[in-house]
Amino acid sequence: MIIGFIGFGKVSKNLMRLIKSDDIAFITSLEGRSPKTIENIKKEDIDVLDTFKQVVEKSDILISANSPKSALNVAKKYGKYTKGIYLDLNNISPDTTFEISKYTDNFVDGAIIGKIDSDNPILYFAGKSSDELLFLSDFIQMKKVSDKIGDASKLKMLRSTYTKTLSALLIESSEIAKNSNLEDEFFDILSLTEGSEFKDKAISRITNTINNSKRKSEELEEIINYFGDEELIMVKAALKKLNR
Ligand SMILES: NC(=O)c1ccc[n+]([C@@H]2O[C@H](COP(=O)([O-])OP(=O)(O)OC[C@H]3O[C@@H](n4cnc5c(N)ncnc54)[C@H](OP(=O)(O)O)[C@@H]3O)[C@@H](O)[C@H]2O)c1
Repeated sequence: MIIGFIGFGKVSKNLMRLIKSDDIAFITSLEGRSPKTIENIKKEDIDVLDTFKQVVEKSDILISANSPKSALNVAKKYGKYTKGIYLDLNNISPDTTFEISKYTDNFVDGAIIGKIDSDNPILYFAGKSSDELLFLSDFIQMKKVSDKIGDASKLKMLRSTYTKTLSALLIESSEIAKNSNLEDEFFDILSLTEGSEFKDKAISRITNTINNSKRKSEELEEIINYFGDEELIMVKAALKKLNR
């Protein structure tokens, strides 16, 4: 079995480490890549082909994990050469996922839940061809959502609707607690009902949101555009908060 990567950043590197089997070989290409990516690839036990077209043609499973902006163009350029599965793991909207699926056969809509370098990343899949990826559960936690392309990306977006809005609320309430000199007590009292890990998780969520507020705002805008027909009072308020 050959797994090919278009994009060799955090996601591909970590997947290679998780999927360890004598029966699986990995391939990619240096074609057009930055010095940083070339250096990363050279450190790994991976076969390097001259072009991404060759990578796609040779792969039983082709993984597209590059960037939300490149995902569609990569599919337009290489999707037609796929002979096996084309698995997209980029953070893209269900609309883009559906658009990508038009450029390749045997498409699988994939979503990484949590950071790929966390202790237990989970992959969610959607699409009929996801059944052919079930063997990956020997190496990584995974779940097939449905046969409907777009469902994995939609679930991930729904998850973000909740987590990103909640982060904005946490920022606001902890600021009020701080102004009242009750910040520690605020986290302690919430931990009584939310569980002992709440304080660490909440602080990590607040820090992450503040440090990446531009990206988080863009993601909230994407959610608002995608679920435009739904009531989004809380999400819009969270966006307003992050933009301040
Ligand atoms: N990291 C996570 O935990 C996580 C979780 C969920 C989803 N994702 C999604 O997974 C994707 C990859 O994330 P990452 O963390 O691995 O990103 P990353 O560390 O920034 O790496 C991106 C890689 O993609 C390459 N690339 C970009 N455009 C390309 C193109 N047109 N053709 C070939 N290679 C290209 C880059 O090469 P150059 O350096 O040459 O540009 C780099 O090797 C993103 O869409 C991200 O949203 C990531």
